[in-house]
Amino acid sequence: MIATQNLTKKFGGFTAVDSVSVEIRKGSITGLIGPNGAGKTTLFNVISGALRPTSGQVFLEDFPITGLAGHELFAKGLLRTFQIAHEFASLTVRENLMMVPANQTGEFLWSTWFNRRRIADEERANRERADNVLEFLTLSHLADERAGNLSGGQKKLLELGRTMMTDASVVFLDEVGAGVNRTLLKTVAEAILRLNQEQNYTFCMIEHDFELISELCDPVIVLAEGKVLAEGTAADIRANEQVIEAYLGRKAAKSIPLGQSGDV
Ligand SMILES: Nc1ncnc2c1ncn2[C@@H]1O[C@H](COP(=O)(O)OP(=O)(O)O)[C@@H](O)[C@H]1O
Ligand SMILES: [Mg+2]
Repeated sequence: MIATQNLTKKFGGFTAVDSVSVEIRKGSITGLIGPNGAGKTTLFNVISGALRPTSGQVFLEDFPITGLAGHELFAKGLLRTFQIAHEFASLTVRENLMMVPANQTGEFLWSTWFNRRRIADEERANRERADNVLEFLTLSHLADERAGNLSGGQKKLLELGRTMMTDASVVFLDEVGAGVNRTLLKTVAEAILRLNQEQNYTFCMIEHDFELISELCDPVIVLAEGKVLAEGTAADIRANEQVIEAYLGRKAAKSIPLGQSGDV
């Protein structure tokens, strides 16, 4: 669905993403792992239009999308989750969902001038969709709560919910499990799986929790020092000595198996 070809991003003389060629298969939940500073977030930023690549190409279903802006990619169904911005913290959970469609397409409600009735219908449909999303995410009881009062995990769920208000087909999740407690992490994982299986979402997710990666992702791509170090199933990756070395350094590699603690 998405492919990169020799994608490179330099910051001054430093190469954060170094000639990366990867594919995100349609219908997959592709995992992206690697040590801190490996270039994972930068790769996301370059694919999702937040940063321009220094060189190389990005394709969406064989069409070049290199260098398109985030909102142009959004219109093509490619979406990166965004943290709940500060200014939305005082809006309710439901309002945070309801504002997504207009907010993301950059459309103004200029047509209010023409057709109030239509706007009312759209708003009703939008509200219904938001309530369905809340139910899906087991957040219905928090619909009228201010977003700022949610726990870290509930905010992550709301972020996922915001992707569900769009008709996105590819969603990029950067450390969606970070700081989320085990119980909520389960809900987040279930939501990702269901969106993948029932609504055909393709995901590419950066994640540090190898248990979560093993549970959800196939394939898993390992990035180290800006380059693709390995790609395979979670089991392949766990057994890959080069990967273990990348995380732990050469000396430790022989003695400490990857993922023993569930955490990479
Ligand atoms: N805007 C930037 N300017 C300069 N260096 C950056 C910038 N963004 C990231 N980097 C550097 O690029 C490298 C990769 O960063 P990042 O993509 O955030 O890694 P990861 O997400 O894998 O932890 C790091 O060394 C980081 O310091
Ligand atoms: Mg990162």
